[in-house]
Formats: sequence, C-alpha cells, structure tokens
Amino acid sequence: MQNSVALVTGANKGIGKEVARQLAAAGLTVYVGSRDAARGQRAVAEIGGDARLLVLDVTDAAGIDDAARQVGTLDILVNNAGVSGDDKTADREDLDTMRRIYETNVFGVVAVTNAFLPALRRSGHPRVVNISSGTGSLAWATGPQFPHRGSYAAYRSSKTALNALTVYYAHALADDGIKVNALAPGLRRTDLNATAAASGGDPAEAAAGVVRLALLPDDGPTGGFFSWDGTAVPW
Ligand SMILES: NC(=O)c1ccc[n+]([C@@H]2O[C@H](COP(=O)([O-])OP(=O)(O)OC[C@H]3O[C@@H](n4cnc5c(N)ncnc54)[C@H](OP(=O)(O)O)[C@@H]3O)[C@@H](O)[C@H]2O)c1
Repeated sequence: MQNSVALVTGANKGIGKEVARQLAAAGLTVYVGSRDAARGQRAVAEIGGDARLLVLDVTDAAGIDDAARQVGTLDILVNNAGVSGDDKTADREDLDTMRRIYETNVFGVVAVTNAFLPALRRSGHPRVVNISSGTGSLAWATGPQFPHRGSYAAYRSSKTALNALTVYYAHALADDGIKVNALAPGLRRTDLNATAAASGGDPAEAAAGVVRLALLPDDGPTGGFFSWDGTAVPW
C-alpha cells in the first residue's frame, strides 16, 4: 500500500471524503478531488496523512487536463463525484436537468477516466471504482425490491449508463490489467438529496466497500457490480 497513489473525485464531503480518509489511513497518497479549492483544502486538512488537494470539476475539460498533468502514476481512480437532482419521473423531467445530471454522472466519468488512463497505465496494479447506485439496477427496478415507481429517472438512468460503461471499460482495459468495477453504496446520510440526508446510513460503511474494490488483488474481479457489503448486485 505504501507508495500507492489514489484519486477520489468529489472527495470534499460525503462518501468520497470517507473513501479518501480510509485510503489515506491505509498509507496511500490520496488526491482529494474537489471542484472548489477552499472546500477541498478543508477536507485535506481533516483527512490528514498524505492527502493532497486536486482541484477537479469533472465537467470542465480543460480543468481535467490540468489535473491529469499533475499526477504521474495513478494506482486507483474512484469516480465518486455525482449529482442526483430531484425525484421526478421521466415524463416530468426537463432535458436541461437531465443533461446536467448526465454531464457529471456519465460524461464526467468518461472524461476523467480517459484523461487519467496514461497515469493508470503506469501503475503495476491499476484499479477503477465507479460509484454507482442500486437504484440504477434495472433488475431491481423491474422486481419487487425497489418501490420507486419511476422516480429519480434522470439520476437512476445516469447510473444505469454508468453501469454499462463499467462493463465496456473493463473489457476495453483488460489487456492493460486495469480492473474496473461499479459499487452500490447503499442509502447514506449525505447532501446528495433529501432522501439521503434524512437517512441513517453511515457513509464510512459504504466507503469501506469502495476501498475493498480499490485494493483488489490481481486475481480479483473486473466488470462487476457490487454492493457495499461485497455481494453482487444484479444489473
Ligand atoms: N448518499 C447515498 O445514499 C448514495 C446512494 C447511492 C449512490 N450514491 C453516490 O455516491 C456518490 C457520492 O455522493 P454522496 O452521497 O457522497 O453526495 P454528496 O455528499 O452530495 O457528495 C457529492 C460530491 O460530488 C461532488 N461533485 C458534484 N458535482 C461535481 C463536479 N461537477 N465536479 C466535481 N465534483 C462534483 C460534490 O462537490 P461539491 O461539494 O462541490 O458540490 C461532492 O463532493 C455519488 O456518485 C452518488 O450518486 C450516494
């Protein structure tokens, strides 16, 4: 673990900050991605260890290139930054809101992952963890488990798209030894939306699941969708 380098996007608060904290506590150098320098710097101070600020808005192409130039070798990329919007069904959603959510949750992941691929290819054991959501599982959405009734359509479909990209990246990068997996963190008490804010879920518990995928051994899985507790989530 010593000398390993990780980047967590959207790590100034919530689940991402807990992931950064746990990776730093395990002895890694952790780039704390934050689109706001002051918020990111505060998080870096709280996280401690070898945490470093990396100003990174995942929707800003020029900023992503600047950030990627600052990182030589990257062992772990956690695509955590995300926005949820409100609980509209698709028939009530406006396209601008939908585009804004996809810009962060889908295109942002592609932009960041592609920009940091050269740094990941310099690692001996590169890992990518995409923070998805159980609400993006079509198997769960069409079964009895999730009584969402089509709510949060923009957010949930963005996570379904992220799941698809997880599979395609895993296949495309397999020959480079880069493992790419998606994680469903479970409902956690964060600022993501009103439902999350009112929940009792501990973000640190979800972060431990992220860290498990971030530190997978070389014979670990790739192209999978896992719950925070390590069990497989149906697509
Ligand atoms: N909490 C849950 O119950 C839950 C459940 C399922 C999945 N998730 C997923 O977990 C991930 C983390 O969310 P969270 O619950 O920890 O929510 P959060 O507390 O709202 O944190 C979201 C983080 O993403 C950052 N972010 C948003 N847009 C960004 C952008 N364009 N560029 C860079 N950073 C950006 C935020 O930065 P600012 O502070 O600058 O806004 C913040 O640091 C998300 O992908 C979310 O979809 C959460």
